[in-house]
Amino acid sequence: MKKLALIGCGGIGAYHLDHFLQFTDLDLAGFCDITVERAEGFVKKAGRGRAFADYVEMYDAVKPDMVFICVPPTCHGNIEFETIRRGIPFFVEKPLTLDLDLAREIAAQVEKRGIIAASGFQCRYDNINDAARAYIAASPVLTVQASRVGGIPEVPWWRNKPASGGQLVEQTIHQMDMLRYLLGTEPKTVYSVAGRGWISQEECPGYFTDDLSTTLVTFKNGVTATMMTGCYAKNAVSWDSKMTFGARDSRMDYVLCSSVTVYREGGKAAAAGKSASVIKGDGVQDRDTGEHAEVTKSAVDFGLLCDRTFVDAALSGDPSKIRSPYGDAYKSVAFTLACNRSMTTGLPVDLAY
Ligand SMILES: NC(=O)c1ccc[n+]([C@@H]2O[C@H](COP(=O)([O-])OP(=O)(O)OC[C@H]3O[C@@H](n4cnc5c(N)ncnc54)[C@H](O)[C@@H]3O)[C@@H](O)[C@H]2O)c1
Repeated sequence: MKKLALIGCGGIGAYHLDHFLQFTDLDLAGFCDITVERAEGFVKKAGRGRAFADYVEMYDAVKPDMVFICVPPTCHGNIEFETIRRGIPFFVEKPLTLDLDLAREIAAQVEKRGIIAASGFQCRYDNINDAARAYIAASPVLTVQASRVGGIPEVPWWRNKPASGGQLVEQTIHQMDMLRYLLGTEPKTVYSVAGRGWISQEECPGYFTDDLSTTLVTFKNGVTATMMTGCYAKNAVSWDSKMTFGARDSRMDYVLCSSVTVYREGGKAAAAGKSASVIKGDGVQDRDTGEHAEVTKSAVDFGLLCDRTFVDAALSGDPSKIRSPYGDAYKSVAFTLACNRSMTTGLPVDLAY
């Protein structure tokens, strides 16, 4: 049986472990965390394997056939270089790193050595993307209005922008990645502004990051987009995670990992003799969305699929089914880091990969 190892036994590591426990064709051979008790906890949960505090020791002892790298954003570099040096296929969590030069160097070595390397952009494996891509192929999109609003994750490093990259880089990168994936084009220029001051130290000790930011993106194919992201939400009613893709004759609401809804004129209501869109006497536009909407819901375990796709690639040596190889994921990292640069300089930033 081929051997799997994991580095970083924290929150997302546990998510991957739940998937590994469903894979009966793999030996869960090694778990590594600098806090070794966490690795020991993973061994206990897996019911097999060995715990390590040092990944080099683990590599020497276990000689894994594949590895999942699940460490925080600033802990990358040496792990990947050692993994590449040993020729081990690897899966690495987004945002890969906060150092774009480092990501570029890793991407170059992956390419040169022909290493199978996948990233954690799991949303790409959701079935809703088939409906979304079919819509975009049939209805030329002019613009996207997008948002991601949530709360502050529990992990302490998240609330410190130098350690996490800030919400846009650490979290909303999923949406930015999906913009690239769904539109099939690359960002050309970004302009981002950030806001702070609503979340206090009393509320969240050690909080040194933006409460929100708004980004304007121009894409190479002429599409423009806005992305508003915030971590200020106190409860689920102020959360949001919608991207509205606008075409001239229709629109699509894309809710990450949840649903795609396409609104068209002439749906069931029109067939029943009703108007698709009504301007009421007070000038308010009234849209009977339910009757004109085609809804596709998420119906697959996309996280499980994402992991299994990488595992299958590592087992077979064929990376063609991986939807987010390292070299592509690197571009989404570049996209969000360019936004950070714009927030700092106050100027638009041209993307260069
Ligand atoms: N794909 C997704 O949807 C998704 C979701 C959540 C988190 N993530 C990403 O996963 C990464 C980790 O996030 P998390 O929430 O699991 O963080 P975490 O802090 O819960 O876990 C990270 C673990 O890595 C360990 N670690 C750090 N450096 C190490 C090293 N050199 N060797 C061994 N272990 C080391 C830490 O001790 C910690 O236990 C982040 O980049 C985050 O963005 C991705």
